[in-house]
Amino acid sequence: MSAVPIASRRTIYSVLLCVFCFLAAGCGVRFDMQDQPRYKAYRWEDGTFFDDHRSSRDYPEGTVARGLLKEDKAFYTGKIDNPNPNVQVETTTNAQGNTIVTSFPNDIDEFPVPVTKELIDRGQERYNIYCIVCHGPTGNGDGMIVRRGFSAPPTYHDDRLRNAPVGHYFDVITNGWGKMNGYAAQIQAADRWAIIAYIRALQLSQNPEELQKMNSDPAASTAAPPPRAAASPGGGH
Ligand code: HEC
Repeated sequence: MSAVPIASRRTIYSVLLCVFCFLAAGCGVRFDMQDQPRYKAYRWEDGTFFDDHRSSRDYPEGTVARGLLKEDKAFYTGKIDNPNPNVQVETTTNAQGNTIVTSFPNDIDEFPVPVTKELIDRGQERYNIYCIVCHGPTGNGDGMIVRRGFSAPPTYHDDRLRNAPVGHYFDVITNGWGKMNGYAAQIQAADRWAIIAYIRALQLSQNPEELQKMNSDPAASTAAPPPRAAASPGGGH
């Protein structure tokens, strides 16, 4: 088989080169959305419409995004309306290195929403998603992550946390506490209250004396979640 003559090899190469250039140019002239002119908000841009060369305007003063007015302070913060700025939360650290709070100034003590069976059920569902992994199905602080080595949280069933106002729980879920992360980004305010209602039910379920008192005095049950919901701690949905 004779070698391809040099001249025809050149022809082949130049044809290939032309095809390559054609394809490359073809890519260059595609118009995709990524090629559209665009501006960055609030950044200096050349020759934009506004005098200050920014592409976006500031919000008119006092603008509130729909649904984000957050007027109900107790509901959105768990704090009372006129907090005393001079009182400090008192804390100590226990043997496990956990932060132990011993006073709850400015926290609300009553739920800012009606406590219903639906609320507690919703709270149970959310608790089983977000809290059970560390706090355990009954709130003893023996969740799966803790059994695998994460710091143990305190039990919900000692007097300190039983007597802690609901606002404290809201604060812990919203802002985090010691080694625990805050869950404000994952759990909206209404669901935080639902979880707290469920924790109150859990606390009742582990407190036979209180349960008995409620059963013998039905009037007392108007102030706390009904024991009915407390009867199935940890039962998953
Ligand atoms: C990743 C593990 C983890 C998860 C998930 C978690 N916690 Fe905790 N929690 C902790 C630890 C650890 C502490 C103890 C923190 C400390 O004192 O340093 C704690 C403490 C607490 C306390 C006690 C605060 C006090 O005064 O001592 C409450 C109440 C609480 N968590 C509620 C919740 C609720 C409600 C959820 C779910 C929304 C939740 N936690 C999810 C680990 C967790």
